[in-house]
Amino acid sequence: MPEPLVSVTHLTKTYESDGNEVQAVRDVSFSMEAGEFLAIVGPSGSGKTTLLAMLGGLLTPSSGSIIVAGREISTLPPRARAGYRRTTVGFIFQQLNLFPYLTARENVLLMRAIGACGPDATRQADQLLAELGLKERANTQVSRLSGGERQRVAIARALMNDPAIVLADEPTSNLDSVRGAQVVRMLIDECKARNKLTVMVTHDREMADMADRILEMHDGHLTGVLAGSAAG
Ligand SMILES: Nc1ncnc2c1ncn2[C@@H]1O[C@H](COP(=O)(O)OP(=O)(O)OP(=O)(O)O)[C@@H](O)[C@H]1O
Ligand SMILES: [Mg+2]
Repeated sequence: MPEPLVSVTHLTKTYESDGNEVQAVRDVSFSMEAGEFLAIVGPSGSGKTTLLAMLGGLLTPSSGSIIVAGREISTLPPRARAGYRRTTVGFIFQQLNLFPYLTARENVLLMRAIGACGPDATRQADQLLAELGLKERANTQVSRLSGGERQRVAIARALMNDPAIVLADEPTSNLDSVRGAQVVRMLIDECKARNKLTVMVTHDREMADMADRILEMHDGHLTGVLAGSAAG
């Protein structure tokens, strides 16, 4: 067995809201290897997004450990955590125009980088767009793209910094099942070709079945790990 890229141990997240405690993730342990494609399924409110946000360094765990490439990330100070997000993680969200866990200012600051991008970065972006079937769409405003095209742009954006880990939260929930399956297929192909570890949250069992492994969550607990169809 290769050394896992990510080891999650006894991970817990408790939210406090209006004096109430919500245990969103409870004592979750599992590990993942480079190149793997995992799906996380489970009912609404079962803690899927919370787990993904902790893996991505967007949310600090209440307790437990997340070790990525030998480094404990759950206790990183804010600046190092931002560095981890920038260098190691690519995000694809359902609402792809804004990063929900970043502040309004941070979302805006992301745009600053565009002016600073040289020809190499532009070439890399165009290459990614071409691989995702969007060669002719590189100069089109996102508002004029279809839902499936937008999600493919989001995949390209997630891969742009060459992260080791790609995290996708319900990337196909606003697509019909045919287009959704196409987007997941492309996500798998792009990530496998680059040996990325990919974790995709989905409500859709058919999409989940395309993964190597399926993690099932229920009420904050990891209740099952199943083999998907991609498992060799
Ligand atoms: N910021 C927050 N403050 C308080 N409670 C929260 C917060 N975010 C999530 N929760 C609660 O934590 C639990 C898990 O939420 P989470 O968003 O992780 O679920 P999910 O599995 O992603 O659900 P869905 O499938 O609907 O997206 C829910 O009970 C939710 O209400
Ligand atoms: Mg969610």
